[in-house]
Amino acid sequence: MKTIHLIQFGLGGVGRALVQRVLAARDDFEWRYGLQFVYIALCDSRGAAIDPDGFSHAQLRAMLAAKEAGQSLENTDWGYKRGGLEDIVDIAGREDAIVIDVTATEETAPALQLALDRGYGAVLANKKPLTGPIEQFRALTSSGRLRYESTVGAGVPVIAALREAIIPSHDAVHRIEGCFSGTLGFLTTGLEEGKAFSDLVAEARALGYTEPDPRDDLGGMDVARKALILARTLGWPLELEHIPIEPLFPPEMAEGTVDDFMAALPRLDASYRERVAAAGRKEKTLRYVATLAGGEVAVGLKEVAKASALGQLRGSDNLIAFHTDVYNQTPLVLQGRGAGVHGTAAGVLADIVALCP
Ligand SMILES: NC(=O)c1ccc[n+]([C@@H]2O[C@H](COP(=O)([O-])OP(=O)(O)OC[C@H]3O[C@@H](n4cnc5c(N)ncnc54)[C@H](OP(=O)(O)O)[C@@H]3O)[C@@H](O)[C@H]2O)c1
Repeated sequence: MKTIHLIQFGLGGVGRALVQRVLAARDDFEWRYGLQFVYIALCDSRGAAIDPDGFSHAQLRAMLAAKEAGQSLENTDWGYKRGGLEDIVDIAGREDAIVIDVTATEETAPALQLALDRGYGAVLANKKPLTGPIEQFRALTSSGRLRYESTVGAGVPVIAALREAIIPSHDAVHRIEGCFSGTLGFLTTGLEEGKAFSDLVAEARALGYTEPDPRDDLGGMDVARKALILARTLGWPLELEHIPIEPLFPPEMAEGTVDDFMAALPRLDASYRERVAAAGRKEKTLRYVATLAGGEVAVGLKEVAKASALGQLRGSDNLIAFHTDVYNQTPLVLQGRGAGVHGTAAGVLADIVALCP
């Protein structure tokens, strides 16, 4: 039996789902892979808990319950007010450790780099360390011991398709098109059905599909980060500022409160209705698409053929279409749930297993 020691940054929705998944997989992984996972450190934004002998399942469940109840790890029986994340890697790290980043902050990058420099593995659902300066992306990914499947499309194996099928088969990528936002998928499907843009945004917000400020979704930045990760995986030396992003609202609506924004939305209804109708006259529909072609990336609302894979996409699923030399008549298409804590945690766990010897 091989024991792998886990250090986890982040115990939010994805982080908690991951701990549960690791616990649930215990018996299966023992007989299937001869692997046993032991948590030796966990931390959140304020606290940390470290035990070189590994936390028991009962202790982990108690920590999850505390986090679920809105407490900091700092206030649990095993927690303390933490210093820097690099200190956690330094204190807890050991030869076979894997550091997991399920936070949403760029602050983890130095600790991830330290872990990789020490020869540990690293797995990310957090896009931010990979979408800073390209030198940072290269430094983090050059060891081959960092995996990041869940940063794009959650558990849908988008990165694996690129890194483990398309790139190593020397297949030339001509174009990649993807819908990587469940929220924006919900909106564009609704527009196609004739609903008003303002009603759709309000509905998505009420259903909890958007961030508390819907501009965080409608601005397109999250999609751009995912597209940048794909582009860099292809070896394109791009920065975030090289990507033209079309937000779904005009610049003047970026100012003001969320209530101001929601109140102003009906002003956009007529123009969206018009764009949908114009696309419809050409047997096309609108999707919020990340397009990678010729070394360039663009993110925005795009007319796509209704008969295409992107045009057929409904609701909040994610979809990616790879147009390559091999997949030239019809693209290689992957589609599935691209958000949600369980799918994301599933992608992270598969990456952890893939790093194990
Ligand atoms: N949710 C999804 O469907 C989904 C899908 C794909 C990818 N992702 C990515 O997965 C990551 C986690 O998402 P989530 O939904 O779990 O987010 P979340 O619920 O906001 O959780 C974030 C966690 O990170 C912790 N954290 C924040 N700053 C930290 C720091 N400096 N050091 C250590 N921990 C820190 C937070 O601590 P506190 O608990 O103290 O606040 C919290 O536990 C994000 O990068 C997100 O983009 C999420």
